[in-house]
Amino acid sequence: MKGLILSGGKGTRLYPLTYTRAKQLIPVANEPVLFRVIRAIRDAGIGEIGIVVGDTAPEIKEAVKDGERWGVRINYIPQGAPLGLAHAVKISQDFLGDERFVMFLGDNVIQGGISPLISQFADSQWNSQIVLTKVPNPQQFGVAELDGDGRIKRLVEKPKEPPSDLALVGIYMFDAHVFEAVNAIKASWRNELEITDAIQWLIEHGHSVHPYIHRGWWIDTGKPMDMLSANAHVLEELTPAIEGTVDADSKVDRRVTVQKGATIINSTVRGPTIIGENCRIENAYVGPFTSIYHDAVIENSEIENSIVLEFSRIVGVPARIQDSLIGRNAVVTRSDVKPTAIKLNLGDYGQVGVL
Ligand code: G1P
Repeated sequence: MKGLILSGGKGTRLYPLTYTRAKQLIPVANEPVLFRVIRAIRDAGIGEIGIVVGDTAPEIKEAVKDGERWGVRINYIPQGAPLGLAHAVKISQDFLGDERFVMFLGDNVIQGGISPLISQFADSQWNSQIVLTKVPNPQQFGVAELDGDGRIKRLVEKPKEPPSDLALVGIYMFDAHVFEAVNAIKASWRNELEITDAIQWLIEHGHSVHPYIHRGWWIDTGKPMDMLSANAHVLEELTPAIEGTVDADSKVDRRVTVQKGATIINSTVRGPTIIGENCRIENAYVGPFTSIYHDAVIENSEIENSIVLEFSRIVGVPARIQDSLIGRNAVVTRSDVKPTAIKLNLGDYGQVGVL
């Protein structure tokens, strides 16, 4: 089997972070979401992976390179415009050939690996396998309606009146029949070739599509709060390790990972939390569900349930920072310069909640 990862898109709902970084490269528990996806596919025994890239291609290539780090071969497939998931399949036909493949959306984070799913599909006669999971807001996804025997009756993309609460997770498996489907369907109201319509086409034309119901957590990291929940879930599953240094005046609980070169000085860190390489945490409190990425500084400040990206500095902030997403090289600090006021130098679409 081969792997196909979709890593285009503008990530508009994650502005301003995604003005300057591809959304798939934002780290969750200090690992870019896209890297987790590559690992999951590799762990399922797949060594040949195509990544469909758009405007952010240079950045994705720079980060992933040829895949050697994971022991896989990466091929890049440029998509001129974001014309839909089924369009991405269409332009990947040369790479995929006649092989069965798994398609994984590069911004999806799912509990557990996908190895059992892949081997189930590889050993089956099914033309396709899709992954479904119960969600509270099916209107925002592709939705499946099953019959009494658990077979798929119908799939609809972002229905106003959802026929069920079973959403299509961004992991799909196909054989070469999918190319007939993607060539037959027409663009949707959002001018995209929808993968949901392609699967519906397979069903209507007598091909077998097997629904797998996923019972763990799954997050499509489209919005800031989704990033934070994915971060929390992944942190909970991380095996903690202290590779940096923790001084005698600090309290670091057992669910904390401190990466190489990081130093914790006179601070309290409660897990699950990860402190990235070469970070300095001094006279600070870092609370549960926080990921501090490499080379950041937290000093005389308190933070929890947040993601801080590399080279950022949070120094002397008098109130606890919570539920926040802080980009690269950002500075949050207390200023004694009069007048006493909140002074902001905020990127487009940034959001600040003051006390
Ligand atoms: C896409 C699919 C949708 C699926 C979702 C999963 O939506 O069209 O069927 O449920 O991914 O993440 P999009 O992210 O393009 O809105």
